[in-house]
Amino acid sequence: MVSQRAQNLAPSATLAITAAAARLRQAGRSIIGLGAGQPDFDTPEVVKQAAIAALNSGQTGYVASQGLESLRDAAAAWVNGHHGLGLGPQNVLVTAGAKMAIALACQALVDPGDEVIIVSPYWVSYPALIELAGGVVRVVQARAEDGFQLPVDEILATAGPKTRALILNSPCNPTGAVADAKVLARLARNLTSRGIYLISDEIYGHLTFEGSLGFAGEEGVDPEYVVVIDGCSKGWAMTGWRIGFVATSSLPLISAINRLQGQSVTCATSFAQHGAVKALELGDSLIAPMREEFRVRRDLVSEALAAMPGVAIVRPAGAFYAFPRVEASLTGSFEGEPVNSSQQFCRLLLEQKGVATVPGSAFGCEGHLRISFAASREDLREGLARMSALIGELSDG
Ligand SMILES: Cc1ncc(COP(=O)(O)O)c(C=O)c1O
Repeated sequence: MVSQRAQNLAPSATLAITAAAARLRQAGRSIIGLGAGQPDFDTPEVVKQAAIAALNSGQTGYVASQGLESLRDAAAAWVNGHHGLGLGPQNVLVTAGAKMAIALACQALVDPGDEVIIVSPYWVSYPALIELAGGVVRVVQARAEDGFQLPVDEILATAGPKTRALILNSPCNPTGAVADAKVLARLARNLTSRGIYLISDEIYGHLTFEGSLGFAGEEGVDPEYVVVIDGCSKGWAMTGWRIGFVATSSLPLISAINRLQGQSVTCATSFAQHGAVKALELGDSLIAPMREEFRVRRDLVSEALAAMPGVAIVRPAGAFYAFPRVEASLTGSFEGEPVNSSQQFCRLLLEQKGVATVPGSAFGCEGHLRISFAASREDLREGLARMSALIGELSDG
C-alpha cells in the first residue's frame, strides 16, 4: 500500500471539477467553464520568443538550483518595487511554480507539530502543503460581512507559542479581496516581532484593481520573518511554464530552501527561466492589457451576481475570481432532491445547466461558490444567465 502521507492527501477539488466538466464536454454537452484557475490568455509573444531563443542557443542543461542570476535580479527588483526591501539576487530562489515555492518554504520552516495559521476562505492547497511538512493547520475565518478583510484580532488571538507562520494571500483566491496596507503592516509588525514568519503569497499581486501591496519595508516589521511568494503564472499568463519564486531578507532561509530544491527538483526549467526574465523585464507593460480585461469582466460579473435574488457578492479588488454567497438557494430542492450544500449546488449547475464552478466548501467556506472570470465576456454572460435560471428553478422547487 501507499504511505500514510499519500493516503491522507485529498485530491484537488478544483482539478476534480475540471475533469467532470471535460467528461460532459466529451459527451457532447455545451459546457461553460467558470472553474479555471488560470488566465484564458496566451503567454505574450516576446516571452515565448525569449524562451525559443534560449532553446535555439542550446540553453538546455541544468542551471544553478537557486535559479538564473538574471531572473533573480529581475524578481528582486519586482519585489523591491512594492515592498521597498532592498533585496538582491542572493535573496531570491526560483522554483517550479509558486506552489512549489510555498511547499519548499513550509518544508524549510515547519517542524512536526508546529502550527501554521491560514485564513478561510483559503486556497485549496495550503492545508495539504502545511500537513505534508508535518505542520498543524489553524484556520481563522474572514467574513463576507466584513468584505473578507483580514480578521487581524482573531489571527493575533490564535497566534501562540506553537505558531511558526501565517500564510497570507492578497489578492485572495477565492474571494478577490485585497488586504488593507495599514492592516497588513500592523499584523506584520506584531507577528514578526514575535518571531512568527509571514508567508505572503502574492501570485495575484500583478492583477490588483484597487488597493496596494507592500508592507515588509514598513517601520517595525522585521523583514527577516517575511517570505514573499510570487511568480509568472497568473500575471503573465504562464501557468504551464512553472516559474515561481521565493524572496526573503533571510539568507539562512534561502540557503535551506536551496538545499531542499537541490535534493528534489534540482532547478526550475532552464529555458522557461529565460522566458521569465523577459516577462519580468517588460513587467507591467505586458500585464496591463490583460488586467484591464479582467477588470471589465469583474464589473460584469459583480453586477450580474448582485442582481440575482438571494445572492450576495463582495466585489473582488484583485485576481480573477468572484465568491458569491448563495446560501439562500441552499435550503430548497430540485426535482424532489434537496439542495443543501455548495457542492450539490455546483453539481446541479454543472449537470443541469452545463456551467462549471467550484464549491465554497473546497476553500473552507460553505454557502459560497467560486466563479472564475478567466473566461470570455460572452461565456460569462451566458454562464451567469444559466446560474440565475437555476436559482429561479430552485426557489420554485
Ligand atoms: C493562491 C495561489 N497561490 C499559488 C498558486 C500556485 O501558482 P503556480 O501555478 O505558480 O504554482 C495558485 C494557483 O492557483 C494560487 O491560486
